[in-house]
Amino acid sequence: MKDSFGRDIYYLRMSVTDNCNLRCVYCMPDGGERQSGEDALTIEEIAEIVRASAVCGITKVRLTGGEPLVRSNIIEICRRVAETSGICELCLTTNGILLPRFVSDLNAAGVTRLNISLDSLDPETYKKITRTGTLDGALKGIYAALDMGFDAIKINAVLMGGVNDNEIFELLELTRKHNANVRFIEMMPIGETADWAGTRFVSVSRVLDIAPELKDVGADGVAKLYKLPDGLGTVGLISPISSHFCPTCNRIRVASDGKLKPCLHSSDEIDLRGLSGKALEDAISAAIFGKPLKHKLDAGETSGSARNMNQIGG
Ligand code: 5AD
Ligand code: SF4
Repeated sequence: MKDSFGRDIYYLRMSVTDNCNLRCVYCMPDGGERQSGEDALTIEEIAEIVRASAVCGITKVRLTGGEPLVRSNIIEICRRVAETSGICELCLTTNGILLPRFVSDLNAAGVTRLNISLDSLDPETYKKITRTGTLDGALKGIYAALDMGFDAIKINAVLMGGVNDNEIFELLELTRKHNANVRFIEMMPIGETADWAGTRFVSVSRVLDIAPELKDVGADGVAKLYKLPDGLGTVGLISPISSHFCPTCNRIRVASDGKLKPCLHSSDEIDLRGLSGKALEDAISAAIFGKPLKHKLDAGETSGSARNMNQIGG
């Protein structure tokens, strides 16, 4: 359905857990405790929210976390969402570590697309960023997804000054040999990691400085797309800070505890828990209609969201 500014809102990002097997520095606070997961929506609640969202015009769902693959019964959740009448596209965002175990079940359950995080190709830097992960584990996950034949896998790299901005060229070089979309994302200062992120901001324009041979090939949702002259895949630039894409925003988010966030960077939340049927549909359509025009988040500012990223799912 259209919001009050005429934007077509058809995309739901649904967090199924705030637990994660990694602790990325820009997402979880230092030494961040794993969340208990006790507050997480049940499968029935998730299925009912997706059903009601589809009634309100949602056709695309992305399951996020934390890390969605640590959620119990994730395959069953995927199946239920994929079966929902009106849902045409089911995507999942993952850090990739558990993909070798899950990739074929995800495929069979109806997941059509995967986004996988990979912020560094250097084992030590990868460890520093994720605190508990190994580069080898993430690469095995990416290769498992490529082998499974998933269409146009997206690889997400969050840019961090002094941490991985020396690897931009190596990361985008992955698109020379692989039919993947490597996307560089500006780091957003949000929640308890906001101070850390705020001092390490790098604009995605740096990617074009480093690889001027990249050719503009259009856009995909919020990402501007480029290609190396002899590249198989594409390079995406996502600039939530340096250039706002709010005018083309197409999404709503539901956090793992059932709070609907009409805008990532607003503290406004609507509690969907306890609602079902017509009351739930009404709450979701009112939230879509009430989406704010734009977020106020520029370089040097902190998100208005009261939450950490692992509760919202990026
Ligand atoms: N800024 C930008 N992107 C973030 N993500 C998580 N935290 C942030 C942040 N502070 C995104 C990353 C990650 C996905 C799960 O969420 O792209 O891959
Ligand atoms: Fe986990 Fe993703 Fe957050 Fe990293 S960014 S801690 S992988 S949820």
